[in-house]
Amino acid sequence: MWREEAPPAMDELRGILESHERDPGELLQILIKAQHAYHYIPDEAVALIADHLRVTRAHVRGLVGFYSFLSDTYLGEYVVYLSDNITDRMQGSTGLATYLCNRLNVTLGQTRQDGRVSVHFTSCTGMCDQGPAGLVNGVAVTRLTRLRMDLIAELINARQPLDAWPRELFLVEDNFRRSDVMFRRAFDPGAALKAAMLRGGDETLKEIQHEESVDPSSGHARRQGADETLKELYRSDLRGRGGAGFKAAIKWETCRDISALERYVVCNADEGEPGTFKDRVLLTTYTDVVFEGMTICGYVIGASRGILYIRQEYWYLKSHLEAVLARRREADLLGRNILGSGFAFDIDIHWGAGAYIAGMETALIESIEGRRAKPRKRWPLPVVAGLNRRPTVVNNVETFAAAANIALKGGAWFAGHGTSHSAGTKLFCVSGDCERPGIYEYPYGVSVREVLRDCGGLDAQAVQISGPSGVTISRLEFDRNLAFEDLSTVGTCMIFGPQRDMFEVVRNFAHFFRHESCGLCTPCRVGTSLLAALVEKVAAGKGSPMDVAEVQRISQLLKTTAHCGLGQTAPNHLIDSLLKFRGDWDKRMMTTEFVPAFDLDAALHEARQLTGRDDALAHL
Ligand SMILES: Cc1cc2nc3c(=O)[nH]c(=O)nc-3n(C[C@H](O)[C@H](O)[C@H](O)COP(=O)(O)O)c2cc1C
Ligand code: SF4
Repeated sequence: MWREEAPPAMDELRGILESHERDPGELLQILIKAQHAYHYIPDEAVALIADHLRVTRAHVRGLVGFYSFLSDTYLGEYVVYLSDNITDRMQGSTGLATYLCNRLNVTLGQTRQDGRVSVHFTSCTGMCDQGPAGLVNGVAVTRLTRLRMDLIAELINARQPLDAWPRELFLVEDNFRRSDVMFRRAFDPGAALKAAMLRGGDETLKEIQHEESVDPSSGHARRQGADETLKELYRSDLRGRGGAGFKAAIKWETCRDISALERYVVCNADEGEPGTFKDRVLLTTYTDVVFEGMTICGYVIGASRGILYIRQEYWYLKSHLEAVLARRREADLLGRNILGSGFAFDIDIHWGAGAYIAGMETALIESIEGRRAKPRKRWPLPVVAGLNRRPTVVNNVETFAAAANIALKGGAWFAGHGTSHSAGTKLFCVSGDCERPGIYEYPYGVSVREVLRDCGGLDAQAVQISGPSGVTISRLEFDRNLAFEDLSTVGTCMIFGPQRDMFEVVRNFAHFFRHESCGLCTPCRVGTSLLAALVEKVAAGKGSPMDVAEVQRISQLLKTTAHCGLGQTAPNHLIDSLLKFRGDWDKRMMTTEFVPAFDLDAALHEARQLTGRDDALAHL
């Protein structure tokens, strides 16, 4: 039995440590590799890693306790995580989890006695269009059915290595259903970068002209192409695609203009918002466009290092991403002398380890620096003091893809699409109750009804726009437009058909936020817990109008006092649901009187049994 065996030999970890510098910033990346090697982080590993990086063991344990995909207890040779997003639930994930546990003879959340396997739930794995989905030893499995669960259980029981599993279990589809001006044509790697470098110069020149001049105000070397590309970015009016919609040109220019020895470009591929999967598709099929956008950003702001921070749920993309980076180095599109221009820039990949908050930009920077992903103080902004306290541009994957297109085709071309406040096109991730879930590219301003028509979801009773932190709209609002000036969105449309109980949706979201709160500030740490508990109370039929009022009161408190966007948006779904789908709450209200959620007398039952007392005084 594994628990009685000696701890694993640490030879593999020594090799891992040798491949990493003694930089505490490497901690998370080392822990991820150790977790993959041993399926937990044993005490011996904590000690070795702490010594290697010269940090305390408590610091190492602090990360193990924070990130969902790290564990201090052995999870088994095979670790199965099933996606717990509402769309996976709608596709039967809960029943499938029970089925798999029965087939494997394992209790959910516990490692089997022989140490072979454990099964867990995790937040959304980003495969909502092909769920129910999950991960086996970090690799994505999709379209799970009972038949597939039978196969997985057989392969695990037969101890088959993952390499020998049938490939169709791991098939991840793009499901790119509609393309518009941005993703209609194939992208020629290097074309946008050349266009950026040639801007403002004689475009008939075969050689890249790399004119540099010194800006008297900052003393920085300025490149004509870089300045002209920034002007195009201003002309394009591109706003960030990661949620907040900040203008990319302002961010890039601010970062460029701050005097610093080094600047960084960070691509945010954390994509933790349940229902969102567009960045996965971009990094799968439009990889060059994204890397090229990052490189152009480096060229414009004068950075030499870029980092792709990507969620671990997309680990299956590792060899693909590394191959594209290698190919780009080979083609002089990355490296010390890009396109012979003297411009040096390269991109590293940093992996997340299961934390939605890591997508928030300052938390993401903390995570890249090898710490727990906790948001920093609001000021200074990352463009002033970000990674390693140096000016840093953090943009979403889709923002970089758009920037590459703008460098190639010009700002006016981009601004010619969309609306006056929301230029260009946007990718939407469509999932839930519709015939054709997947990715749809539309110009900004498209109505929800049009999206529903195209994907075959017109009978919906509700659409969740922008994930759990966004807006729930009812069918009365389907003519609203997807754009910053109306329904601002990271690009998510989760569709709920007329048969769905909308209370189950908030129940899932409330648990998500409770689980994902980073715990830094009290309103969010306590508030998300209280809200999830109140929702459970209503689900158990013990809710009264007083509990609903309490949900509303805590929601307002959370919105106004939480430190970061996670806490501020965590109650949105509850507020919307009470406003628009109150019937699904009311049908659970059995009483108008307040009923305690916790039965004190029942809680004493075990104590009464242990002490053998059951007289009147032993009851409350
Ligand atoms: C809780 C939380 C999670 C976030 N997750 C992501 C994410 O996964 N990807 C992303 O690009 N932005 C995410 N953001 C927004 C980022 O903080 C940041 O605004 C964005 O990366 C900036 O890029 P953009 O200007 O290109 O949108 C998140 C914000 C919050 C508050
Ligand atoms: S609002 Fe929540 S997620 Fe944000 S810092 Fe506070 S506890 Fe952390």
